[in-house]
Amino acid sequence: MTSHGNQEVAAIVVAAGSGVRLGHESPKAAIEIAGIPMVTRATQAMLSGGANKVIVVAPEAWTERFGQFFTHYVDRVRVIAGGLLRQDSVRLGLAHIGSAEIVLVHDAARPLVPPFIVDRVIEAVREGAPAVIPVIPQVDSLRRIRRSWTVAVDRSTFLRVQTPQGFDAQILRQAHAHAGDKEYTDDATMCEAIDVPVMTVPGDSLAFKITEPMDLVLAEVIARGEA
Ligand code: C5P
Repeated sequence: MTSHGNQEVAAIVVAAGSGVRLGHESPKAAIEIAGIPMVTRATQAMLSGGANKVIVVAPEAWTERFGQFFTHYVDRVRVIAGGLLRQDSVRLGLAHIGSAEIVLVHDAARPLVPPFIVDRVIEAVREGAPAVIPVIPQVDSLRRIRRSWTVAVDRSTFLRVQTPQGFDAQILRQAHAHAGDKEYTDDATMCEAIDVPVMTVPGDSLAFKITEPMDLVLAEVIARGEA
């Protein structure tokens, strides 16, 4: 890929998961943080960080409701229905990126990602990296499970992976076509399966994923500026 600055960037914000682990009836991405739904925050971060347009992948029964979150962005945000697995939701989103040459894939469950991280990922792809992931160091000690006991591992050899992950759009399409029904945890892993090197850039602790109720409390405090 040649590096030039005017390639169109589309972001796929995957938001089709349920809120089960958070104990909510509505989908996780619709939960408000300081009055703004997670999916809206995540989408705004993509646009502020340099994405030209966003495909929001919503739970099938919620596409209309999610659409209402974006009435002020109709020309730049499109809401579509997602699939069973995260990778199905990404694949469905990919069908709507049009002629964009760079694609970001971002979890709506990471609503507080700073726009400068989005920009950092886009720049790395613009400069020629086919697949880019933001990472942060592993701070806890790690142990490997061995039947009934555990053994310590060297945590300095591990990194925690965040989103948005950025890709040359053509390569991500190839990776998804190759993946078929095989399950992958993320798109970078899928690219590696077709021998595409994955480049890392520094992530940020604010890009944390909201998974448990305590994460929501933390996000609320941060978003209100109380932290
Ligand atoms: O469940 P987890 O938090 O790991 O999901 C990561 C992201 O993938 C979430 O933003 C979730 O909404 C999205 N997802 C999706 N479609 C699915 C499953 C998860 O868009 N079928």
